[in-house]
Amino acid sequence: TSLALLTIPVAYLIGAIPFGYLTALWARGVDIRTVGSGNIGATNVGRVLGFRFFVIVFLLDLAKGFLPTYLFPLAVARATGQTVPQLGVFVALATIMGHNFPIYLKFKGGKGVATSLGALLALNWVASLAAFAGFVLTLVVTRYVSFSSMLGGLVFLAVYFVRVDDPWNQEHLAMSVVTIGLFSLLVVRHRKNIVRIKEGTEPKVSFRKNRPS
Ligand code: G3P
Repeated sequence: TSLALLTIPVAYLIGAIPFGYLTALWARGVDIRTVGSGNIGATNVGRVLGFRFFVIVFLLDLAKGFLPTYLFPLAVARATGQTVPQLGVFVALATIMGHNFPIYLKFKGGKGVATSLGALLALNWVASLAAFAGFVLTLVVTRYVSFSSMLGGLVFLAVYFVRVDDPWNQEHLAMSVVTIGLFSLLVVRHRKNIVRIKEGTEPKVSFRKNRPS
């Protein structure tokens, strides 16, 4: 189990890689923290650099959640011959904490949307795909990425709790607590967006070409 314990800090350090910050810096020499919403996530990189860059950063941030969560429990099982129950849940949490509070950027990170989706895809793909669908639908209707992200989180929570038989038994307890915790974190990380939505100053995305969003 010491190997299992080691996967947690490694997952944190992988999750902390600020792909949005690095992409904007390398591609355009821009410090993404100083433009747009100041967030290091795919949304803000896309807002400032263009949709292509949204896709790149979204996929990279998704991958850093998905790959450790999917692979580390398998690797530990293979190396030790034992499966560690709920290891994936803790690896997932570590990647998301890494993204939101990265050691490389003085712990000032993103909101964890893409990384949470990636990590949760590895743990519960049904609820994750439902969440993604909820995100896309809400985005088409409201054009607020932030609101759509929170609604996606709510869809994940709802689908997870509807489908799980006993959320508080030993097998599911960690996942149930972590999903509630992650949704709370998601809302807290969007507190400035919530204020802007109320004030009517939150930027909307545009689905038309050649128009700044
Ligand atoms: O991915 C975060 C998104 O929900 C909001 O990002 O840049 O609009 O604050 P941003």
